[in-house]
Amino acid sequence: MSHHVTRSSEFHHPNLDVLIEEATLKARIAELGAAITRDYAGRVPHLICVLKGAVVFLSELMRTIDLPVTIDFIAVSSYGDATRTSGEVRIVKDLDTSPAGRDVILVEDILDTGLTLNYLLSNLRARNVHSICVAALLNKPARRLVDVEVAYKGFDIPNEFVVGFGLDCAQRFRNLPYVAVLRQPSQVWPEGAAIGG
Ligand code: IMP
Repeated sequence: MSHHVTRSSEFHHPNLDVLIEEATLKARIAELGAAITRDYAGRVPHLICVLKGAVVFLSELMRTIDLPVTIDFIAVSSYGDATRTSGEVRIVKDLDTSPAGRDVILVEDILDTGLTLNYLLSNLRARNVHSICVAALLNKPARRLVDVEVAYKGFDIPNEFVVGFGLDCAQRFRNLPYVAVLRQPSQVWPEGAAIGG
C-alpha cells in the first residue's frame, strides 16, 4: 500500500504547487553536509535548530555530516498563525544546555525578513559561543529587512509563501516531503476543523 493513500489530503491539496522536489532537497542538503564536514574537521559542531520549521532540515542535514555533532533546540515566536511578520521576536523555549565555548551552527528553515536570525545571532553571541554561523534551507532575498550572512544556504526562492519540509501554514503541511507554494493561505483548514493548542 502506498503512503499516498493514507495522506492524500495533504499530498493533493488543491492550493499547492510543488516548488522543490524531495530528491532535489536531499541532494542539496547532502552538499551542505559535506561542506560542513570539511569546514569543521577536527571539531564538534553544535547544531541549534530553530523550532518548529527547521526540524526536518535538521534531521536531514545532521545525517549528512560525517563528524561528531551535538544538537539543541530553541523556539521563537515569529509569524504566529498569520503569513506576515510582526517584527517582534521572543524566545518561547530556550536551549537545554549552554552554548558557551561551542562552534554553533544555527539551523533555520527559511530566511525571510532576517529579523528572526538577526535576533538569534546576537542573543547567542552574547552567550560566549566560540563561533557561530547560519545554515538556512531556503532564502527569500526579496523580503530582507536586515542583512544576515548565511554560510550554508540551500535555495534562493521567489517571494511566495511556501510550505512543506517542516514549513507550515497555521501548523499544517509540515509533513510534506517537498517544498510547495501555497495559494490562498487563508483557506488551508476546512471550516470547523479542530486542531487545538
Ligand atoms: P524572518 O524573521 O522574517 O526571516 O522569518 C523567518 C521565519 O518566518 C521562518 O522561520 C518561518 O517560520 C517564517 N516564514 C517566513 N516565510 C515563510 C514561508 O514562506 N512559509 C512558512 N513560513 C515562513
